[in-house]
Amino acid sequence: MTEIGLPSAPRRILLGVSGGIAAYKAAELVRRLRERGAEVQVVMTAGAKQFVTPLTFQALSGRAVRDDLWDEAAEDAMGHIELARWAELVLVAPASADLIARLAMGRADDLLTTLVLATAAPVWVAPAMNRFMWSNEATQANVATLAARGVKLLGPDAGEQACGEVGLGRMQEPEAIAAEIFASELNGALHGLHLVISAGPTREPLDPVRFISNRSSGKMGFAVAAAARDAGARVTLVSGPVSLATPAGVTRVDVETAEQMYRAVHAAVTDADLYIGAAAVADYTPARCATQKIKKSSECLELSLQRAPDILASVAALERRPFTVGFAAETTDVEKHAREKLARKRLDLIAANEVGADRAFDREDNALLVLWPGGRRELELKSKADLAREFIAIVAERYREARHPSVALAPVAGSG
Ligand code: PMT
Repeated sequence: MTEIGLPSAPRRILLGVSGGIAAYKAAELVRRLRERGAEVQVVMTAGAKQFVTPLTFQALSGRAVRDDLWDEAAEDAMGHIELARWAELVLVAPASADLIARLAMGRADDLLTTLVLATAAPVWVAPAMNRFMWSNEATQANVATLAARGVKLLGPDAGEQACGEVGLGRMQEPEAIAAEIFASELNGALHGLHLVISAGPTREPLDPVRFISNRSSGKMGFAVAAAARDAGARVTLVSGPVSLATPAGVTRVDVETAEQMYRAVHAAVTDADLYIGAAAVADYTPARCATQKIKKSSECLELSLQRAPDILASVAALERRPFTVGFAAETTDVEKHAREKLARKRLDLIAANEVGADRAFDREDNALLVLWPGGRRELELKSKADLAREFIAIVAERYREARHPSVALAPVAGSG
C-alpha cells in the first residue's frame, strides 16, 4: 500500500465486494467504472455471495468473478499474485466491519484479503455497515489503522440505513465513488461550466413508417458527455435515437429529426459556455413526408430532398456564442476537409475522424485528429471512453486559452 491519491485514472480496477446489503450497489458501481473506460475484475468474499450472485457481476464486468484462493483453474489462468500486480487500483466497496477488521489485522484468510496484502496498487475502501457498528471503538480503531497505512476511505455517508436506522454508515453512492476515482485525471478542467453536446443520428421521415438515417450509435458523443461531466461541467446531452443509457448526472433531451435537434440545441445553448456537435445530423431531409405509407407502384422511386438546418454553423453564428466545437466525419483527405469545415463554419475546434465500413461509426473505439486555428493534435485509436477524456482535456485547454489568453495554462493530464 503506497499512496492514497491516484496519479492518473486507473484503467484496471480490482473491485472487492464484501458481505452486506450494500453489495447490490457494487453492481451499479461496476457499470459506472466501465462507462469511464476501466476494466473491472470483481473479487467477492463468501459473505458477498449471500447478497448478490457472481453471475450478476460477471455479466456487468464481462469477466469471470474470482472468489476462491484455492480455485485451481482460476489460479492457473491468472494466479492471485499476478492479479494483485494487474490491478492499478484495489477498491473495496462495500467494505463490511468484518472485512475492515481483517484488513487491519493483515489477515490473508480469503482471496480478497490476500490480494490487498499482495498488491502494490493504492487501496481504497468504501465502508458500509450499521451506524453502531461504524461508530464502535473497535471499527474506528481498525479504520484508523488502515488510514495510517495509506488506505483511502470513501465515506461512509449518513442517511437511512437498510436496518431502518438513520445515521453514518451508508456506502457512498456508486456515481460519487466513480467520480472521485476519475476526478484526478481531468482535474475539474470544466468546473462550473455548462456544456451542451449533441450525439447519435437523426431520423428524417419519408412516410409514417420509413426514415433516412445513418449508422451513428451515439457512443462517441455519450462518452464525451460523460468525460465532460467528470471534468466538472454541467452537461446537457441532446440525443438522437440511440439505445444507450444516459451517463449519470447528465441531463438528456431526446429528439429524432434534424429540425428537432436544431430546436433542442438552441434552447439549451442560451446559457452554455461550450457546444460540441458530435451528432451525425442529416445534411438533407425529405422535402415532404408522405402522410400514408408510400406504395410500391413503379419500378423506380425518386425522392426529393432539401437541406436540413446546419445546427453547428448556426450555433457558431450566434451573437453570444459558446465555445463551438464540431466533429468531421471524412472518408478521404481527412485533415484538408476538416480544416475547411473549421474555417467555413467558424468553429473554435474540430475533431476529425476517418469513417468507413469498420471505422468510427457504431464501434467501441475510435481515433481523432483534433484541429484548431494554428494547432493540431492526433489522438490514437483507443476506446471511445479513453479517447473522450483526452479530447475533453484538449477542449478545456483550448477553451481556457480562448477565454483567458494571457493566463498561463496549467497542464491537464491526458492531453498529451
Ligand atoms: O455515434 P458513433 O457510432 O459513436 O459514431 C461517432 C461519429 C462518427 C458519428 C462521430 O465521431 C462524428 O464524427 N460525428 C459527426 C458526424 C457528422 O455529421 O460529420 P459531418 O462531417 O457530416 O458534419 C460536420 C459537423 O457538422 C458535425 O459536428 C455535425 O454534428 C455538424 N452538422 C452536420 C449537419 C447538420 N445538418 N448539422 C450539423 O450540426
